[in-house]
Amino acid sequence: MPVGYGEGTAYRPPHIHFKVFIDNKEIVTSQMFFSDVEGRDGFNDEYIINVKKADKILKGNYNIVLPDYNK
Ligand SMILES: [Fe+2]
Repeated sequence: MPVGYGEGTAYRPPHIHFKVFIDNKEIVTSQMFFSDVEGRDGFNDEYIINVKKADKILKGNYNIVLPDYNK
């Protein structure tokens, strides 16, 4: 599990950055946060991944909406 960084108003809660490439073309760059940002100003719930402990790991699903990159 990642940890947050920064201080005060620059604090970034724990998150994971990701990029999606199709045919070596960058299609999406975004980040996902965890449930501890729920209701926090500036964080849309769409960016939250809910994880559950499964055996010795944390498991979660996150939907990524891809633009129609062929246009
Ligand atoms: Fe970051």
